Amino acid sequence: MSIRESSSCLQILGRICDTLQGGERVDPEHLARIHEFLKVFADTCHHAKEEELLFPAMVASGIPKEGGPIAVMLAEHTVGREHVRAFGDAVSRYANGDTAAAKDIVDHARAYIALLTQHIEKEDKVLYPLADRILPQSTQEKLLRISMSSRKSRLATGNTRSSMNC
Ligand SMILES: [Fe+2]
Repeated sequence: MSIRESSSCLQILGRICDTLQGGERVDPEHLARIHEFLKVFADTCHHAKEEELLFPAMVASGIPKEGGPIAVMLAEHTVGREHVRAFGDAVSRYANGDTAAAKDIVDHARAYIALLTQHIEKEDKVLYPLADRILPQSTQEKLLRISMSSRKSRLATGNTRSSMNC
């Protein structure tokens, strides 16, 4: 699943928020599956690839780790992971009968949706074009190979954007 495909997951999450805010019950199993997807996605897929592969390559090519676009993206990854963790806690409480946890589910889900939506836009408009400009073709191809072998990626093209999607 790519970060763009994940936007359909975010749309589903948004509809679930609407349902909870309307006072209706949502199957906790459904919420738990969404949490699992977000956790795997945030921790081991897209963000981890950037942190372990792309950002070190960009730093090695002269982009500062502090005070620039990489620092902004890292900070957003941290905030996103915190929302996913808090969302999971709220889902557990909701599954155990705490109906008041619905508000925390909605708050963290809405915050995560907003964060990831603008994060994707920054990647598309700033980060990946910058990486494509500064990283030698050989480095981009190496990133793609590592990315594909580690995630059994279904990628077809060899630019930075495709290699960072899962
Ligand atoms: Fe990212």
